[in-house]
Amino acid sequence: METLITSSPLEAAAILNEGKTVAFPTETVYGLGAAIDSPEALAEVFRAKGRPGDNPLIVHIGTPEELPRVASKLSPEAGLLVTRFFPGPLTLVLPKSSEVPYAVTAGLDTVGVRCPAHPAAHEFLKCCHSPVAAPSANRSGRPSATSWEAVHNDLDGKIAAILRGNTSRIGLESTIVDCTGPRPLMLRAGAVTLEELQAIVPSITPAGETQKNEAPKSPGLKYPHYAPRARVVTHERGESPAAIPSASAWIGLGTPPVGIALAKLCTTHEEYARELFSFFRHCDREAIQTIYCELPPEKGLGRAIRDRLNRAAGNH
Ligand code: TXA
Ligand code: MG
Repeated sequence: METLITSSPLEAAAILNEGKTVAFPTETVYGLGAAIDSPEALAEVFRAKGRPGDNPLIVHIGTPEELPRVASKLSPEAGLLVTRFFPGPLTLVLPKSSEVPYAVTAGLDTVGVRCPAHPAAHEFLKCCHSPVAAPSANRSGRPSATSWEAVHNDLDGKIAAILRGNTSRIGLESTIVDCTGPRPLMLRAGAVTLEELQAIVPSITPAGETQKNEAPKSPGLKYPHYAPRARVVTHERGESPAAIPSASAWIGLGTPPVGIALAKLCTTHEEYARELFSFFRHCDREAIQTIYCELPPEKGLGRAIRDRLNRAAGNH
């Protein structure tokens, strides 16, 4: 199929409303959207990405007021998080409403809901007649797309349209908090940090700390993720990898190891987060074989960067 590229949120929404797939920008990463009431478009999303069918999709809404369409109940904690962080880079897992089909939730009775804080996403979602299910707009397993060009590289010919927008401001996917259990769990770290969440709801804990040996609560977390073609090797700050093979790259905040062919020195964690996936893709274009990545400390935004690096490296 021909993939149309447009800068008009209105045109993009009209295509989605016809039951087709449309990629769109958000402040975290680009999403690949389908109307939740279009079984064909939902199937197309899984096909275009090569995504396993048991991995549920996040549902996107244009304004927090649309939440009752998607979720059947809001716990007091969830209510506090919505008030503080919607719209923004936070996804809440909530009991699903009857309007959300099981094709979106992969058979679960819960649904991930997000309201992006991105002007074009807001315009687009406002013009869509139904809430929009959207995973990250990359081929499954690859680094998420943080620019329309990255979406185009992965999905050209496989989706109906791309809403062309700016480079994603955050560059890592949303924080996910599951509010359906006895106490809220952070399933995925992101730009809304654990510290910020706990300032509003002190009982929130990261899922990994309470259930190390249990099946992952977020079905997607068991699959390989964020992987460039190059091998990813992580190291702590101050540690230097022993022997650097040729065609190696490095990204981090400290000092690049000696012998690196391509280095990306970041000055803040915000910059590290924003640049990481586009650097991975750049390394693949440059035929880099190994990418060394400095692990930031496990706090603030560093927690999300560490998580993506460890997954890309296959460390857990
Ligand atoms: O920033 C983001 O979250 C981006 C933009 C496009 O919104 N989306 C995104 O979607 O990262 P995706 O599909 O790449 O990752 C969604 C994750 C997956 O790990 C999935 O398993 C999990 O959210 N998820 C979705 N619904 C869930 C549910 N009901 N319960 C638990 N986990 C869920
Ligand atoms: Mg993804």
